[in-house]
Amino acid sequence: MSVAKPLPHDAARLHVTGQARYVDDIPAPGNAVHLAFGLSTVARGRIVSMDLDAVRAAPGVVAVMSADDFDDMPDCSPSTHDEPLLAMGEVFYLGQPVFLVIAESHLAARKAARLGVIAYEAAPAILTIDDAMAADSRFEDGPRIYEKGDAATAIAGATHQIDGQFEIGGQEHFYLEGQAAMAVPQEGGDLVVHSSTQHPSEIQHKVAHALHVPMNAVRVEVRRMGGGFGGKESQGNALAIACAIAALNTGRPARMRYDRDDDMMVTGKRHDFRISYRVGFDDDGRVAGIEFLQYARCGWAQDLSLPVADRAMLHADNAYDLPHARIESHRLKTHTQSATAFRGFGGPQGMVGIERVMDHIAHHLGRDPLQVRRANFYASAETVAVDAAQAGTTPYHMPVEDFILDDLCAKLEQSSNYAARRTEIAEWNAANPVLKRGLALSPVKFGISFTLTFLNQAGALVHVYNDGSIHMNHGGTEMGQGLFQKVAQVAAASFGVDVSAVKITATDTGKVPNTSATAASSGSDLNGMAVKAACDTIRDRIAEHLAERYQTLPAKVHFASGKVFVGDAEMTFAEAAQSAYQARVSLSATGFYKTPKVEWDRIAGRGRPFFYFAYGAAVTEVVIDTLTGENRILRADILHDAGASLNPALDIGQVEGAYVQGAGWLTTEELVWDDAGRLRTHAPSTYKIPACSDRPDVFNVALFDGENREDTIYKSKAVGEPPFMLGISAFLALSDAVAACGDAYPDLQAPATAEQVLNAVQKVQG
Ligand code: MTE
Ligand code: MOS
Repeated sequence: MSVAKPLPHDAARLHVTGQARYVDDIPAPGNAVHLAFGLSTVARGRIVSMDLDAVRAAPGVVAVMSADDFDDMPDCSPSTHDEPLLAMGEVFYLGQPVFLVIAESHLAARKAARLGVIAYEAAPAILTIDDAMAADSRFEDGPRIYEKGDAATAIAGATHQIDGQFEIGGQEHFYLEGQAAMAVPQEGGDLVVHSSTQHPSEIQHKVAHALHVPMNAVRVEVRRMGGGFGGKESQGNALAIACAIAALNTGRPARMRYDRDDDMMVTGKRHDFRISYRVGFDDDGRVAGIEFLQYARCGWAQDLSLPVADRAMLHADNAYDLPHARIESHRLKTHTQSATAFRGFGGPQGMVGIERVMDHIAHHLGRDPLQVRRANFYASAETVAVDAAQAGTTPYHMPVEDFILDDLCAKLEQSSNYAARRTEIAEWNAANPVLKRGLALSPVKFGISFTLTFLNQAGALVHVYNDGSIHMNHGGTEMGQGLFQKVAQVAAASFGVDVSAVKITATDTGKVPNTSATAASSGSDLNGMAVKAACDTIRDRIAEHLAERYQTLPAKVHFASGKVFVGDAEMTFAEAAQSAYQARVSLSATGFYKTPKVEWDRIAGRGRPFFYFAYGAAVTEVVIDTLTGENRILRADILHDAGASLNPALDIGQVEGAYVQGAGWLTTEELVWDDAGRLRTHAPSTYKIPACSDRPDVFNVALFDGENREDTIYKSKAVGEPPFMLGISAFLALSDAVAACGDAYPDLQAPATAEQVLNAVQKVQG
């Protein structure tokens, strides 16, 4: 069978030879126009006057549009109608698109976009969490609260109490391919849109809405993205809509891509958070009760902030059975870019909160943090299998039945030589005054499913041609994660053919309709099942036909090794397809899948939002220079649960990339806004993503040997986001190294840049 093979990414050769086509590489038919936005230069204010004459007069400019040119401003929001394509009299963040330039070239459009003269009557901008709380500036009427038991009483009655506050910075996606779109006019006002998007159906919906045409007038195609990481769930809407409008107005193909600076100034990022906590616990560090206050800085528009903030609440427990818990979440509206989806979708922020608490408890008691973590783990799946009543319940009242972290962490503890290294590091730190090393093991338990339950569905369309070649379509998009290859392996397995017989095609709203974003790590879970259903339908039709032809039962027909066996007879898959075709058997089928068991109430915070959990753990070792704060990751050991992996090579690639990206979020990647609300870190010169040389020198990554307890595609587990949170161990290791400088618990905030580390060292040293 082709499933479970460590095949390379289907487009790996195309990627490295430069042949892989991205949206901006697609040749436009005819003479395309190119677009650029003119951006707001204040964070909040009323537009008093706008002089665009110089823009119109600039070389190569075809047309310029602003709010005045629209009777009905198109909306770009994925959630609620609060994101006008162009500012309408008022601006809400510095970088907001105010006017649109349509020009003969990309460069002409960009140059002209700088020539707008706009006068603003500026108003005081709400920029920070403190500003927003003071002004009660928020989405939803008040905070959302999830509660289990009585946290306040449990904390008061516990042997020990501590509290703390933790700032967690946001993160720029830094997909290597920036946002891009192209719209090509068709006959009769129809439109084909190419977009670098994780969500083709959303692009179709938003473009159709903007043009006041039905969805069947717009077809969206996505072959691949050069990375999305959540930043292309909703942030591509504006470009696609702008291209659609320009294409319709000029009758020419229209294309748009943000250059890196614009991309960083215009689009949303990961939500930065403040988390404060109060916890009561016993001498072993076992939590009796805990209260979290989560503050999410959401930016100017709602976008996906509510489900992101929900997911932060849903991961406030991580791996730990909290008998009494109260989580209060504030979704704050600020005059900054509208924060959006980013790998983990709020989960990482919630999780780093509780991991910080575990660390703090351990420090308070003078215990090894791993011991404290273990003392709080949920009951294991084995225990729960014997006695369901032993299952711990999450703060949202879902029993945890598939917990494997005790086993997984024990294996990682062994393979990483955790105990011996802990001793060795302590000795080393005692002997070395300047350089200090730190070590941390942190686990991940991540919920798999869209929390907006209806999104947990997928469709597929599969054709078998009469030469035996297979053409596969599904609703998922490829952003580098290897989804297409995994799903092609599933299709090949159904027909018993080699994966090379399966043609991977662009995602196309004309082939599979009403799709969900490729997000929530559920791409292979959902589309794998939908493709399998379609393939199995065709396979069963072929089997039925051959059974009739050979006077046997369909159950006696087997598909393997590119052949079809019917009793004693055998033929190639191509011959079987040809035979079925000649007998007038349909060789095309759709497939559909919806995730079972998920149902919950997001307002009350009760029920089963997740089909299952994905697990993993990482041990990171770091060294810091206590004189400068400079630091390095020396070694990382990871054991990650991908269930029965569909493709161990791709999954390990996901784990490695996610860990590095997660570590980057909490260490070097710092977003800085100045007092005027201007993002000062809007290029690689000032915003530091990890480089190749920043990956750990020793990097041992393995997949946990197991299978999903739930009935997923070949018992695999989703892998896209969960390992991102393994990067939390890098932050905790830095904190551990700082702790070696004195007695106090380190006041280390995230990202732990060299400057932060130095500050924390100096505080600990007193
Ligand atoms: N891996 C690569 N190479 N590029 C990406 O953009 N996005 C991540 C993850 N892995 C991403 C990636 C995010 S945010 C998600 S939700 C999943 O992939 C989406 O794909 P999947 O559902 O097929 O795992
Ligand atoms: Mo991923 S943040 O769900 O696109």
